[in-house]
Amino acid sequence: MDRSQAKQIVTDWVFPTVKSSYMGGLEDRPILAKSEGQTVTDTDGKTYLDFQSGQMGAALGHQHPRIVKKITETMKTLFHASNTMLNVPRLKLHETLGKVLPKPLKRSLFLVSGSDSIEASIDLARKATGGMDMLGFHSGLHGSTSYLTRSMSFAWSRRKHTVVAPATSSIMTPNCYRCPLKLEHPTCEFACMKISLELADANFTSQPAGFIGEPVLSAGGVIVPPKGYFKALRKELDKRGMLMIFDESQTGLGKMGHMFGFQLHEGVTPDIMTLSKHFGGGLPISAVVTSDEIAQKAVNNGYFATRSHATDPLLCAAGEESVNIVVEEDMPGKALRIEKRIKAALEEMAKEIDLIGDIRGHGVLIGIELVTDRAKKTPADAATEQVAQACLDAGLIFQVRGYQGTKNIIRLVPPMTSTDAEVDRAMSIIRDALLVAQKSTAAAA
Ligand SMILES: Cc1ncc(COP(=O)(O)O)c(C=O)c1O
Repeated sequence: MDRSQAKQIVTDWVFPTVKSSYMGGLEDRPILAKSEGQTVTDTDGKTYLDFQSGQMGAALGHQHPRIVKKITETMKTLFHASNTMLNVPRLKLHETLGKVLPKPLKRSLFLVSGSDSIEASIDLARKATGGMDMLGFHSGLHGSTSYLTRSMSFAWSRRKHTVVAPATSSIMTPNCYRCPLKLEHPTCEFACMKISLELADANFTSQPAGFIGEPVLSAGGVIVPPKGYFKALRKELDKRGMLMIFDESQTGLGKMGHMFGFQLHEGVTPDIMTLSKHFGGGLPISAVVTSDEIAQKAVNNGYFATRSHATDPLLCAAGEESVNIVVEEDMPGKALRIEKRIKAALEEMAKEIDLIGDIRGHGVLIGIELVTDRAKKTPADAATEQVAQACLDAGLIFQVRGYQGTKNIIRLVPPMTSTDAEVDRAMSIIRDALLVAQKSTAAAA
């Protein structure tokens, strides 16, 4: 299909999408035709390094051969089935996942999308505690279903929604690079958390049920909460009878250099965890996991979560193979090696490129915050857009994120299977683009 045909279909038939500041309208964007490993190729035959891992679902590499083999085999036997009955891939996935979960997490249920799992996890916390109020980070993003997950996605303005779900409110994201209290960790003693919880206590309209957050906030600006933060938060939640939910859609299953992102945070284990994205090796399946005790309490209070396709053998087989690949092919180790290489390259670049204000993240989730002035930390939105466009033109895909309305954070999410040569090529493309943006930013000043 050529560009003019695609433009016509977009004009006539595709639901409208907001223009991207650097990729333009939908009609201008690459038309993807195939993918393999760490690359995607468009209908013009141009190949891109995919440092966004698709929509983060291809963190094991596109078309991982073991996933392709597994789903091809499953397609020939049983690929859709009633979720009121058992099937072998489903049982195997419960067992395989259960065996890699740190105690006391062990029980799982399967759904389809990430948003599904978030809705179900909040419902689980509410049924298990008998409470209602939920807290989340004020730059968190947990999905786009039109009511509950959007209401908990404070990164998107809640003013955009027609109705916001009741008993949902935010606490301040612990963003040490831009601390609004102008304090420093650790002498701050987590003042942002203390103030937030004092306000939350005043605002709660019921018995509070829980908190949901990512161990490393991805879409909310690639923010790593400081050492000790979650341990302190855990204590505060326990005092209030609230459960801790970690949304590991973007951080789970190897990407942080650990099996799960929460393992970055000094022995803090959540009460409930969600998984999605590359959990299905590229196919849509998500999970909610918890302990025996919480699962039983919730079920006693009438909890259930189900979708027509939630336990499809096809999706469960992909999920099981994905977990096996993460373990057997040491994806956490691979993610750590990639992190080291990317950070070393970026730190070298930062010596000559003042636009780089901060480099952060873990494993294969790396953020580069661009600023026009390192001391003032002025967000360099225009330069970031310029860099993203230049990289796309040069064959490198990544997403631009922001924090509280800025658009100045380059987010890299390379597949964990990326080779040294691919990482080096991406870094060279980014360096060239940054050098040009640095010159034009200086000229505009
Ligand atoms: C952290 C996080 N949670 C939940 C979701 C929602 O997942 P889905 O788009 O599969 O519904 C996303 C989507 O990007 C996400 O980044």
